[in-house]
Amino acid sequence: MNSVNDKLGNLASSIQEPPEKLTEVTDLEKLLFETGEAPVIEKKNIFPLEWNVQTPKLYDIYDGARDPGWAPNKLPWDTLDPSKFTQDQRYAIAYWFSLLSVFDGSGPVVFARAMIYTYEAKEEDPIRKCFFSVVRDEMNHEEICGRAIKAMTPNGPLGYEPTTPLGKLARNNVEWLYYNGSRYWKGFNAAVDKYSLPILFTSFLFGEVASSTLFHGMYEKTTIPVFKEAFKRIGQDEGRHLGICLAVLQKLLPQLTPEDKEMITLQLRAGFVFLSGILFEPPEHFWQLPETFIPAQRALEEVARSAGLGILTLEERKENWKTAVLRMKANLDPYGIEFPALPEVGISGKEVSFDAEKIIPIF
Ligand SMILES: [Fe+2]
Ligand SMILES: [Fe+2]
Repeated sequence: MNSVNDKLGNLASSIQEPPEKLTEVTDLEKLLFETGEAPVIEKKNIFPLEWNVQTPKLYDIYDGARDPGWAPNKLPWDTLDPSKFTQDQRYAIAYWFSLLSVFDGSGPVVFARAMIYTYEAKEEDPIRKCFFSVVRDEMNHEEICGRAIKAMTPNGPLGYEPTTPLGKLARNNVEWLYYNGSRYWKGFNAAVDKYSLPILFTSFLFGEVASSTLFHGMYEKTTIPVFKEAFKRIGQDEGRHLGICLAVLQKLLPQLTPEDKEMITLQLRAGFVFLSGILFEPPEHFWQLPETFIPAQRALEEVARSAGLGILTLEERKENWKTAVLRMKANLDPYGIEFPALPEVGISGKEVSFDAEKIIPIF
């Protein structure tokens, strides 16, 4: 019996104090003693990850953006009947969305690249989150471009053969637009991580001011239901992007160095030239275009307008663009940033040279 009791006693004590646990403790201390320091991670890496917060307001904006409240596939595309338009009207509508896609179609990758930059630069978490929401929104805008183009010209913008002179002019213009888009992307991609955040955000702000202006105007003018809804929704998204940029800049602009300010003046001129490609008409400074481009685009705009797309006249666009630029100026004036002269829309200011490599903004 005794031996049975002894065995039970031994068993009970082994349950209370498992020998493995003692070994574990010893091993952990031994391990801790033997640990080595992890190598230092070079700068501009996305690691180490941290979740710092300096501007909690950006979390509120991000929370409001989690659900954009619409989706391209839920718009009333079934109300869009291409056969109600003439062939040239279809070419002209598809053309305008191809022009838009230089800006809104490149939006997802431009902002995705900028989002990676916010990780590499160890920006606060809510900025990274906001950029993520912008990437998602831009993907929706890019989808609208694609859907509209394909509805009007199946296999468009380039995979079909236009049959009328206007259609052929549209094709040629689109090829030139995309060539210039490729030059923009090359410059942006090479330079994005060389700019400080205030410079980047001022340029993005310019893009958002431009896009919210454009979509607001077209929403009011278009008579095509599915595009009316699309312009309204895209305009709302762009307004939210504007809010993100302003919230970030409220923090950044008071800390600008004189060099930053000078660079921003140059960037504003470059951004204006680039964005004029859709807000007004492409100035030759950046845009490398053949002489046929502007007359062809004007003819296409006229036909798209006759189809009810809602493209503003050149005079209306000039006025709108000027108003938008002045809004931009009002945001920057309090921080002592000199505004560049923009003679194309009648705004005087500091004469600066145009630098194609300084183009950053996008919708
Ligand atoms: Fe935007
Ligand atoms: Fe956009």
